[in-house]
Amino acid sequence: MCPTPIPLYAQDPGFTPLEEAFLESIGITVLHTPEASEYIHQATFVYAPYLEIEILLAEVLNGNDPLVYVGTDVDVMWDRMDRSVKHLLLGRCRDDESRLRKLQLCADVACSFCINRKKSSFPAFDPFPEAFYGMSIWWRQNAFQEGHRQRSESRDGQDEEVKEEP
Ligand SMILES: C[S@@+](CC[C@H](N)C(=O)[O-])C[C@H]1O[C@@H](n2cnc3c(N)ncnc32)[C@H](O)[C@@H]1O
Repeated sequence: MCPTPIPLYAQDPGFTPLEEAFLESIGITVLHTPEASEYIHQATFVYAPYLEIEILLAEVLNGNDPLVYVGTDVDVMWDRMDRSVKHLLLGRCRDDESRLRKLQLCADVACSFCINRKKSSFPAFDPFPEAFYGMSIWWRQNAFQEGHRQRSESRDGQDEEVKEEP
């Protein structure tokens, strides 16, 4: 039996037409910014290495709860955003309401993303130790139990269907 194919999507406003054609030719659907956010659900694997912090938090992860994320460390970003918000609030920087709102949104998204998630940092890559600096894989804490439960439920469902057959 063939496993169900996993839908693959790619988004980068910098893609050239050649890159888009190549991705489509290997079965990857190219999305136009900011469509990707709508395609992220609870079972999605998001691969976004070194995506700009504010785009990642305000656009990609905002309102989304992907199963697995590979990319720049969200807890480090959270700390950075939080400090920037406090810095602005203390009035040490030029007053900028929209900047403050954006930073606050990013800090909130990063904070809720980190809750109930575990991470593992990429190990140093010997030939070029900085290659994966600050990169981690993040997963929802109960991801593996969820997967096991879903597989068990789906197996139970299949058993019942088999029994119902004449
Ligand atoms: C710092 S580069 C990282 C590129 C590559 N992932 C790497 O590790 O070398 C950030 C990339 O994010 C892309 N980008 C910017 N806005 C984006 C968005 N809204 N959605 C997806 N990609 C975006 C940029 O065009 C750029 O290619």
